[in-house]
Amino acid sequence: MAIPKSIYFKLRPLILPIDEILSFIPHNAHILDLGCGKGLLLEHIKNFKSYKGVDLNIPSDKYKDEINFVKGDCINFIDRGLEDYNTFLLIDLLHHLKPKYQFIFVKKLINRMKRGDILIIKDIYPKNFVTKFWNSFHDFIISKQLINYFDFNSFENTLTNNLIILDKFHKRIFLYDHFFFVLKRN
Ligand SMILES: C[S@@+](CC[C@H](N)C(=O)[O-])C[C@H]1O[C@@H](n2cnc3c(N)ncnc32)[C@H](O)[C@@H]1O
Repeated sequence: MAIPKSIYFKLRPLILPIDEILSFIPHNAHILDLGCGKGLLLEHIKNFKSYKGVDLNIPSDKYKDEINFVKGDCINFIDRGLEDYNTFLLIDLLHHLKPKYQFIFVKKLINRMKRGDILIIKDIYPKNFVTKFWNSFHDFIISKQLINYFDFNSFENTLTNNLIILDKFHKRIFLYDHFFFVLKRN
């Protein structure tokens, strides 16, 4: 279902914990927003140094903004140099990736991060049957896709000691169960 950008920009902040996402972005951030969608976060982030959003579907009004937006596949994009960035956002991207790519993708990203770099993962992670049903229904209608939930518990067990977990927590907004996992490269 193609929702007009003006409506999307009004509705999405009602279900997205934007303030929590922003709270983890440092003032000197050079941001790489993987799966940036329509660029909603750029409208809300203040006090950053640079921003680049990558998405398979960049809206047409962003095509000419080559400084801030790139149309492309995140899985391939992180194969190039990432030294220009120090803050990586994965906001509701992972459940769109095939399960076999999820860990490979995040691990590859982490391995390419520099010491001190921050990774903010926020994804849908239902805590009960009702929210699971609602999230699946939502994504099926909006994205025509089945959700591939990211297994945060198994992922945490694979982390090595060159990573610090800055925070991890659930936040429910209406029937949307969000999970935050924020890491810093040590
Ligand atoms: C639920 S939207 C989230 C958008 C944005 N992060 C936000 O929070 O508003 C997920 C986005 O991931 C994008 N996406 C899915 N798989 C992708 C991939 N392999 N590479 C780049 N973008 C991808 C989709 O096109 C979609 O815009």
